[in-house]
Amino acid sequence: MERLPTKEGGHSTFLEKGKKSIEGLKTENIVTFDLLFSDDEKEILRHIKLENNCNFDISDLGENELIESLVAKLEEIGKNESEVVLGLANIVASRAQDFKEIMSKEALCVTVRSTIPHSYNDVPRWHSDGTYFTQEDDEKVYKMVFPIFGANTLFGETLDKDRYEELLVESYKNDEINSDNPEIWDVEDLKIRKELDVVVQRLPDAGIEKASVFLVGHEEAVIHSEPAISIPRIFVAVLVGSKAQIAEMMAAR
Ligand SMILES: [Fe+2]
Repeated sequence: MERLPTKEGGHSTFLEKGKKSIEGLKTENIVTFDLLFSDDEKEILRHIKLENNCNFDISDLGENELIESLVAKLEEIGKNESEVVLGLANIVASRAQDFKEIMSKEALCVTVRSTIPHSYNDVPRWHSDGTYFTQEDDEKVYKMVFPIFGANTLFGETLDKDRYEELLVESYKNDEINSDNPEIWDVEDLKIRKELDVVVQRLPDAGIEKASVFLVGHEEAVIHSEPAISIPRIFVAVLVGSKAQIAEMMAAR
């Protein structure tokens, strides 16, 4: 499949910027840096029609090229010209592959979620991510997230770790006990999210056209939530690891 002649500058500069920015992970659990969309990429983004909710994961371990797999899935988000879909796939794949290089890993899994506006996240769902795959004892795993468009992920911190963790346990219990009873689940879920929002303080907004790289699968994993989704949003998350780690994660999905 032919690639669009895009982002000479955007591609290499994002890679360089990322390599410098992750130095910050020696002392912080989260760093944020520019996505550096090129003019060609911005033109693609201006033409995307987002009409459907979609949520999918693709690794680079499959038989197909990452781009091909992304194009096949991204066709589902709306009635877009094939050139726009290919351009979007290139934007996602290039940043994901750059992140793999930035972190010096063998394999990647990219998650793309397109969301039409809804009110669920008007109250955040604060949480921290658990482990995605088997980690070495002292290994730290970082996830990169960014919005293609729409609001960025919210990040927070808590001064009441005990209460925060109690509430997360309540949330898991709600999923376990009430998943077959949506009305009760909804009431309980909203109650828990409101209480979490009291014990979590928001960090300053990462802003648009920014990627954030943050710690997951660790006792100090960064607290985060999807933002309120009042305008259409395309969100991308990338995890990188050894081929065995990414294969383990994909097998569990
Ligand atoms: Fe998460």
